[in-house]
Amino acid sequence: MHTPQLFTPFKVGSLTLDNRIVIAPMCQYSAENGATTDWHLLHLGTLALSGAALLTIEATAVLPEGRITYADVGLWDDVTEAALARTLKGVRRYGLMPIGIQLAHAGRKASSDLPWKGGAQIPPTHGNGWQTVAPSALTFDPKDNPPLALDAQGLARVREAFAEAARRAGRLGLDFVQVHAAHGYLLHEFLSPLSNQRNDEYGGSLENRMRFPLEIYDAVRAAFPADKPVTVRVSGTDWVDGGWDIEQTIAFAKALEARGCDAIHVSSGGLSPAQKIPVGPSYQVPLARAVKAAVKMPVVAVGLITDYEQADAIIGTGDADLIALARTILYDPRWPWHAAAALGAKVKAPPQYLRSQPSRYRDLFI
Ligand SMILES: Cc1cc2nc3c(=O)[nH]c(=O)nc-3n(C[C@H](O)[C@H](O)[C@H](O)COP(=O)(O)O)c2cc1C
Repeated sequence: MHTPQLFTPFKVGSLTLDNRIVIAPMCQYSAENGATTDWHLLHLGTLALSGAALLTIEATAVLPEGRITYADVGLWDDVTEAALARTLKGVRRYGLMPIGIQLAHAGRKASSDLPWKGGAQIPPTHGNGWQTVAPSALTFDPKDNPPLALDAQGLARVREAFAEAARRAGRLGLDFVQVHAAHGYLLHEFLSPLSNQRNDEYGGSLENRMRFPLEIYDAVRAAFPADKPVTVRVSGTDWVDGGWDIEQTIAFAKALEARGCDAIHVSSGGLSPAQKIPVGPSYQVPLARAVKAAVKMPVVAVGLITDYEQADAIIGTGDADLIALARTILYDPRWPWHAAAALGAKVKAPPQYLRSQPSRYRDLFI
């Protein structure tokens, strides 16, 4: 039987993936002081049974002030590490795929309210709010409290926090780390000339703007077990004239590849409220394709990939090596089963669920 491209195995560094479907990181805003809760056990547990090849834990703050909201997951001390260890124990006991974590710092977009409470920034003078930091004292929204521009000591604190969180991730036995350099958060703020107006060695030229994110990559790589992948998520463009764009993304991807980066995940936007995003099916795939043409490391495409044939075609045409799902798999946590059934492939399922297979799809499960 011909195996659809979406269900062919693939290697990212030392990790062998069963198929090309990865679960994108998704903040749940359900942590308590950075500690994961039973919600994460339910949520990650469900996704770990979905038949996808890889699970990425949500944006996990390396410092308390690096959280988007007060309910974000963190990995900055022994308490947050112990909470995640408990969650992982439950998920791993029954889960069927490798698990990684996205390490993040929200920069000037930190100190926000929960999305379902409007998501506006909370001023540092209010409960659940704090002073944000960024490359430059420039707000995301004119209504926001201006961030403090990081000085040398502040930069060192962030670097050390990423390294320390990567060490904790290694201790937790996580299978990979993804460095979050997308969506207008701290590392993307260094990359984009719209948010980085420094006049030291971290601002100005493209080389200077890439310097801090590359230092973070190096710090994480050095702190995480050498035999496990470290990947990076980028925004391929700000969708704003004069901002970060695909040419700069390609330069960044090449610099990461030269440092041994194991994969690059190409998303977009999030840096500026002025963004004009041409939202539609596969709208970010051209960005992934452009990066893929310039590097040899694996490339992940994401964004409104909802149909089985659409996903299979992205892999089949070589636009990307892997596709990531976020809303699609929240909406339908058995999407990989349904894709396998529609395309004529097989997926892993837990033995408890083997009897679920409709008779018209005999042999769906491995
Ligand atoms: C509920 C939710 C939470 C998200 N949290 C994160 C996150 O923690 N880190 C991140 O890089 N992107 C995050 N995203 C963006 C997704 O990973 C993904 O890039 C985006 O939703 C587009 O893919 P989709 O069309 O399959 O949803 C989030 C998206 C959603 C819907």
